[in-house]
Amino acid sequence: MDTEKKIQDAASYVREKYATPPQIGIILGSGFSFFQEHLQNSTAIAYKEIPNFPVSTVEGHAGNLVLGKCGEKHLCVMAGRFHYYEGYSMQDITFPVRVMASLGIKTLVVTNAAGGVNKAYDVGNFVLLKDHINLLGSSPLRGKETFGQRFVDMTRCYSGDLREAALETAKNHDIILHEGVYAATHGPNFETPAEIKMMRVLGADLVGMSTVPEVIVARQLQLKILGISCVTNMAAGVLDQELSHHEVMDTMDKNRQKFVGFIDELISQKL
Ligand code: HPA
Repeated sequence: MDTEKKIQDAASYVREKYATPPQIGIILGSGFSFFQEHLQNSTAIAYKEIPNFPVSTVEGHAGNLVLGKCGEKHLCVMAGRFHYYEGYSMQDITFPVRVMASLGIKTLVVTNAAGGVNKAYDVGNFVLLKDHINLLGSSPLRGKETFGQRFVDMTRCYSGDLREAALETAKNHDIILHEGVYAATHGPNFETPAEIKMMRVLGADLVGMSTVPEVIVARQLQLKILGISCVTNMAAGVLDQELSHHEVMDTMDKNRQKFVGFIDELISQKL
C-alpha cells in the first residue's frame, strides 16, 4: 500500500472518533504528556488502535492521539512521539504529522526536553526554537516517494509571528523564555563534553534527540511551526555532573504547572 493511502486510512479512523477537524497539532515531548489532561471534551485514541501508526516505547511517552478543545480551538495532540533512536525510520517518525495535516491542522507546536548548550541558560528555562541544526545524518524526505516538493525550503521554518505571540504571552506568566538554535542528535546516549563543545562552536544553544524530523515534514506540508524546548539539564560538560533521564523527567515535573498556564493562553488566545 502506498503511504498516501496509509495516511488517508489513519485519518479516516481518527475522524470517525472525533468529527471536528483540528486546527492545531501539538507534539508533546518527554515529560510534556500531562498537557493532554488539560483538553476539554477530549477523546484519546491509543496509537496502537490507529491503522498504520507506529507505537512508542520510551518511558514518559504515553502513546495516545488526543483530540479536544483548548478554549475555542480544536487540537490534535500527540501524547508521546517517536524517536530515531528507537529504531523507527524517519518516515515512521513523521507519519503522524502527515496524518494531522490530513485531518486539517494548519499550525504545529512541537515541544521537547533538551540539554542546555548555551551557558546563559538555566535548568527549567524554556526556549523558543528560532532555527535548528540537523545532526541526525538523514532527512524524512529521503526516499522514492516525494509527497509533493522534493527540495523543501528551510529558511524561517519557525514562524516569526508565532514566536512573537509566544514571547508576548510569556510576559503574563512566571516563565523564562529564550530564543535559540536546537541541534538534533541521534542518541540514545547523551553527548560527550567534546561533542557539546563542538555544537556550541556550530551555533547550537540546545541539544536533543527529536523534533527536527517532524519539523522538516511540517515544513514540506507548509504548516506554521512553533518549537518550544524545556531545558531539563545542562548539556554534558557544562556542569561538573553526569546526565540522567531521571533528571530530565524530574525537571519537567517541576515546571509543568508554569507551562500549562502559558501554553493554554498562547493556544486559546493567540494562535
Ligand atoms: N542531550 C540530548 N538530549 C536531551 C538532553 C541532552 O542533554 N536532555 C534532554 N534531552
